[in-house]
Amino acid sequence: MIKIAPSILSADFTRLGEQAMAVEAAGADRIQIDVMDGRFVPNITFGVQAVECLRPLVHIPLEVHLMVEPPEDFIERFAAAGADTLIIHQEATPHLHRAVQHIHGLGKQAGVALNPSTPAAMLSEILGLLDLVLVMTVNPGFGGQEFIPETLGKIREVRARLSELRRGCDVEVDGGINRETAPRVVEAGADVLVAGSAIFDAPEGYAAAIRALRNTAVGNRSAR
Ligand code: DX5
Repeated sequence: MIKIAPSILSADFTRLGEQAMAVEAAGADRIQIDVMDGRFVPNITFGVQAVECLRPLVHIPLEVHLMVEPPEDFIERFAAAGADTLIIHQEATPHLHRAVQHIHGLGKQAGVALNPSTPAAMLSEILGLLDLVLVMTVNPGFGGQEFIPETLGKIREVRARLSELRRGCDVEVDGGINRETAPRVVEAGADVLVAGSAIFDAPEGYAAAIRALRNTAVGNRSAR
C-alpha cells in the first residue's frame, strides 16, 4: 500500500498545529518533520519543541527527518519528544550502526536517508536492521525543488536489495514528489511518498492533493 507523508516544511509556520491536524483529517498516513541544523544542510527549521507541541495534536505517526550532524546528539531528545520514526543521514555519522541500535533501544523505528550522490551500497552492512530507507530525490535543505531523475535507479537498487533480504522495510522518497513524479518513483519501488509543496500548495485542498498523489501512484503500482 502506498503511504503519503506530508512534509510540514511546506506548511504555514504560523499555523503548524492546525495544518498538521488538517492533513491528518485529509488522509495523510504519517507526518514528516524536517529538522535542519544549518550545518549538515544550509537551512534551519524545527527543534525538539515543535515535535513536543505537534505530538498531542495528531494520532498518525510522526517521522522526524534529522538533517543534522552528528545525529547521535539529538536522537534521545526527539525520541522523548514523541517521534515514532527517527531518520538519520548515512553521510552524517561514521557510527551509523550504533546510531540505529540506539534508536531501536529507545523503542523507535529507525530510518536512514541517502543524499542523491550516496550509493545504495553504503547501506549494505545495516540494511537488514532498518525499518525505512529514505532515498532523497532532491538535495536536502529546501522544499519546492526539482526532482532528480537519476535517483530512480537508486530506488530500484534499494528495493532489489531488500527483496534479496526478504526484508519488510519502507522505501521512502522525498523531494519534488508530485503527480508527475509519483508514478515514476512507485514504479521504481518506492512505497512511502513524502510531499511538501504538492500538498500544502495544492489549490484543490489537502484531501484532493493526497488522493491524487495516491491514485496516480497506485495506478502504477499495480503495473509493477
Ligand atoms: C528537503 C526537504 C523537502 C521537503 C519536501 O530537505 O525534505 O524535500 O520535505 O519538499 P517538496 O515536496 O516541496 O519537494
